[in-house]
Amino acid sequence: MLNLSSITARMAAPANGWTGFLDRPKSASQAFLVAGAAWFVIGTLYGLVSAIDLVAPELFNNIPWLVFGRSRPIHVNTVIYGFVTGLLLGSGLHYVPALLRTRLWSERLGWIGCFFWQLTVLSGPLTFSFGYSQGREYAEYLWVFDASLVISVVILLFDMLMTVASREEDTLYVSVWYFVGMLVWTCGVYPIGNVMWRPATGAVPGLLDSIFLWFYGHNLPGLVLTPLALGAAYYVLPRITNTPLYSHTLSLAGFWTLVALYSHIGGHHILQAPIPNWLKVYSVVDSMAMVIPVGIVLANLWLTARGRGGAIWRDPAGRFVMAGTLWYLITCIQGPFQSLPSVQTVTHFNNWTVGHAHIAVLGFSGFIALGALWHVLPLAAGRRLYSERLVNLQFGLIVTGLAGFFAVLTIAGLIQGSAWYNGEMVYRVLPQIGVYMALRAMLGMLIASAAILGLYNAVKTITSGEPVALSAASEEVNP
Ligand code: HEM
Ligand code: HEM
Repeated sequence: MLNLSSITARMAAPANGWTGFLDRPKSASQAFLVAGAAWFVIGTLYGLVSAIDLVAPELFNNIPWLVFGRSRPIHVNTVIYGFVTGLLLGSGLHYVPALLRTRLWSERLGWIGCFFWQLTVLSGPLTFSFGYSQGREYAEYLWVFDASLVISVVILLFDMLMTVASREEDTLYVSVWYFVGMLVWTCGVYPIGNVMWRPATGAVPGLLDSIFLWFYGHNLPGLVLTPLALGAAYYVLPRITNTPLYSHTLSLAGFWTLVALYSHIGGHHILQAPIPNWLKVYSVVDSMAMVIPVGIVLANLWLTARGRGGAIWRDPAGRFVMAGTLWYLITCIQGPFQSLPSVQTVTHFNNWTVGHAHIAVLGFSGFIALGALWHVLPLAAGRRLYSERLVNLQFGLIVTGLAGFFAVLTIAGLIQGSAWYNGEMVYRVLPQIGVYMALRAMLGMLIASAAILGLYNAVKTITSGEPVALSAASEEVNP
């Protein structure tokens, strides 16, 4: 059985000028991590602007680049690609080489990948603010920036495959499977879902477009966020508990059942549309079957951690990752339930889904991304975490904000859904949900403050965290 504690990183080569800096071990990982912490602040502030706009639309009336239609896509794309995916890519650039007992094949390629990735994320605020967008949810980036994201993924994939090829560890631990798998799938899912062969519109005509879009809109959580988050959780939790993984066989069973079941169920987003019936049935049945991979993964992680709950909840990073697995459980109980057409007659087209989206993207993948940040950043930087207290405060603020979000959005969604079901007009329901929209904006302030604290802590860690000898700081992963 692979024992991560035996793994020791090679010593860092001294940085030599600017180019030396680009070759410094783990510097690309740090670049992704710090950028991810910064995007958390920016993306979340745009979420706050969107939420305030829903409460007091007149506030931004004369500021076109802040109105809901523009701030919302900036919020959504920035938190998904900049914050969550960025942090998880950054932690993977550290843990994949560490688990393979080698260095990243080319640190410089890691930097180039990071550059093209950040360019795409930056294009969100820069182009959407002025109304330049491809106008399809989660696929708003303009073609040239889609291309830059794909270039980034291809470069990172090449770098990873070369790292795998030059490894000194025979066993491919499941985190490596998830990380490389995500890069392979994104090379397919992103260009297809963004209809990149039609650069002008990024769409195909008619109803078919909704099938393409939701194939992608669903695989973005399923084959991008989920594998990255699970890869990080499988790395961080055994290290903190100082135990081997409960079962490598189960970990691979979870991996393959995820691929088999998650890849084709996007139809559950458009059950009301006149798409083929077989596609609806297929997507609903396999949405239910998603309890299999989810159950396998959670059982494996929790059995790895059993008897060591104290160590996990005391560790600032472990607490984030463990809480992320709990949000995963709630998300994946709610997900299959709301895939049922009968349930969707009440829950679709309203704030219920927005509640699900936040516990999924922030609760599950975002919490694990933050846990990975606080666990990996000190290892990659060779410095101690600047402040554990700030991480704990950040945790408390986000848990409070997110639990509140889930409650108020679910209630608002049920009010909207049941009123419409009974034939009520949309405009007459709006006053009834006003208080929940105001509460969501207030709770958002907690999450925004937590993001700012996190950025401060991350920057202080790499600039003034207490240095630790690299051989000790980098990998001697304990599990
Ligand atoms: C068992 C697994 C899951 C199932 C069966 C599931 C099912 C669903 C369904 C049916 C919807 C559409 C609801 C509607 O429009 O009425 C939805 C929305 C959504 N889900 Fe999940 N979900 C699952 C897990 C996840 C995970 C793990 C994530 C994120 C990492 C996620 C992210 C989202 C997001 C962002 C939306 C909103 C999409 C939109 O903009 O309309 N889901 N989910
Ligand atoms: C200050 C904190 C936040 C506030 C106030 C906020 C607010 C909002 C608002 C107003 C929307 C638009 C909902 C609609 O269309 O009706 C939204 C959508 C969304 N937000 Fe946030 N958000 C915050 C933080 C986050 C974070 C940190 C994440 C992820 C890590 C996130 C993920 C999403 C996603 C995936 C959607 C799309 C939901 C859907 O279409 O169903 N949000 N948010």
